[in-house]
Amino acid sequence: MIRRRKGGEPIVCLTAYTYPVARLLDDHVDLLLVGDSVAMVLHGHKTTLGASIEMMIAHGQAVMRGSTKACVVVDMPAGSYEESAAQAVASARRIVDETGCQAVKLEGGVGMARQIAAIVAAGIPVMGHIGLLPQSVESDGGYKIKGRTEENVAALFRDADAVEKAGAFSVVIEGTIETVAADITRHISIPTIGIGASGDCDGQILVIDDMVGLTVERVPKFVKEYANLRDVISHAASTYAAEVRSRAFPGPDHIFSATSGKEPT
Ligand code: KIV
Ligand code: NA
Repeated sequence: MIRRRKGGEPIVCLTAYTYPVARLLDDHVDLLLVGDSVAMVLHGHKTTLGASIEMMIAHGQAVMRGSTKACVVVDMPAGSYEESAAQAVASARRIVDETGCQAVKLEGGVGMARQIAAIVAAGIPVMGHIGLLPQSVESDGGYKIKGRTEENVAALFRDADAVEKAGAFSVVIEGTIETVAADITRHISIPTIGIGASGDCDGQILVIDDMVGLTVERVPKFVKEYANLRDVISHAASTYAAEVRSRAFPGPDHIFSATSGKEPT
């Protein structure tokens, strides 16, 4: 139960989009988020607006097949919930019915409180998302850190209060001045999950491809690279290419001779 872990041991979260990565991460995290970042990270779209409900469901199903322990949350893509509470409930229901995930996440505070409350009333747990909202970067004029002005800080607190009051079980705080994210964490009674926020948040999340160094574009300042899979994959590919060209691959272990009786696995 994520909600009960307010102020306790930090809640460990990562995104996951595929079956094998979900299998690998499931033992190590409390929560796996099938983020709409999948549109950028795996599909090469410029923003998360490239995500569709079908895309989220397909990746949600893959992650659910690979996860047995973690709480799996699937992002509601842009365009699937903003219009009305009824639209939000219908989309959330479809995501949960077709994936079996434990919860959905949507972006927005005061302006999305009706949607959150309606989905929760329909029996589906909701994670909120406030601060820098990737689905709004185009209308916002780019990626901008929140909480720099007094006015903006007050708006962030109103958003946090609205998300809590609407019944969300936790809330992501993204791209927000550290002290503001820490103050919001102390102010509300549901767990906050930080990304580019504060070490005082009740948990942390990163995009898996960013933290293992698979992202080919520049990563944000808040990302820590725990591995460099770009170099691992490039090295494997260049070694394979050289061995194919020199006929060193396939070698004796990777072919079937009539006498070996070896099966394909
Ligand atoms: O889509 C995503 O990956 C997210 C996290 C960064 C919070 O929303
Ligand atoms: Na997202």
